[in-house]
Amino acid sequence: MNNFFKLNNGINIPSIGFGTWQTPDGETAINAIKAAIESGYRHIDAAAVYKNEVGVGEGIKGCGIPREELFVTSKLWNTERGYESTLKAFEQTLNDLQLDYLDLYLIHWPANAQQFSNWKDLNSETWRAMEKLQSEGKIRSIGTSNFLPHHLEALLEKATITPAVNQIEYHPGFTQDECVAFCKKNNIVVQGWSPLGRGEVLDNATLITIANKYNKSVAQICIRWALQNEILPLPKSITPHRIKENFEVFDFEISSDDMTTINQLKNIGESGLNPDTVTF
Ligand code: A2P
Repeated sequence: MNNFFKLNNGINIPSIGFGTWQTPDGETAINAIKAAIESGYRHIDAAAVYKNEVGVGEGIKGCGIPREELFVTSKLWNTERGYESTLKAFEQTLNDLQLDYLDLYLIHWPANAQQFSNWKDLNSETWRAMEKLQSEGKIRSIGTSNFLPHHLEALLEKATITPAVNQIEYHPGFTQDECVAFCKKNNIVVQGWSPLGRGEVLDNATLITIANKYNKSVAQICIRWALQNEILPLPKSITPHRIKENFEVFDFEISSDDMTTINQLKNIGESGLNPDTVTF
């Protein structure tokens, strides 16, 4: 099992990212980042809409690890789509994080057809700004989040740079197979948000039986299962022992029979957020 995935531009990305969604700003965020770094994480997944980039940035600044050894992601929020507003929102994120470059910047959600008649152009204009920021060296890689194959197909029609990453909901019971296959075919690394189904898959009886067999927690099974499916998981926690536990997944392997059993679980822990119908 590699500790890195290789992006389509040759850059290595650490194979587990530390999620920060719903982490309160301030001391909680600072302490969560510190605990993550102490546990071995070097990849932090942030976003403007999480409203905690100041705390996340403080945590990064005080963690004692040189900037170039960290991989920091942020995401452009939906209200900031378009060329000029993307450039502006990016500067705000950089300021909040107290950084002078990002490793990865993602469009958080595609503009969808239900909300915007010009959704394709809107996504392409946002992308054009991201391409400019990458060409200026302010971002090392750019990507998307919550893009389904038809959103990616439309984006690729005008894109100069193929997204390095697409970040989607991914956990046992919700595997978005069609989207994953499309991304893999196009050499786009899939990152999984809510790899524990926001904690909702942790009491699933099948997963508990499998976890007991390996002497691991269900959370560790979910994270290891994502990795073995070549999906980059982004577990979130603010609890130090869980943060540590979620990174201790490199010392065992799930058998192919158990992988199949987990792959076949259906309809557990799904958020219900469909990129084609969300209204935010
Ligand atoms: P907390 O942050 O209070 O520790 P996901 O990453 O799928 O969105 O899941 C995040 C949720 O799962 C949070 O509520 C988090 O709680 C909880 N969680 C994270 N890691 C574990 C773990 N190892 N065991 C149990 N719950 C966990």
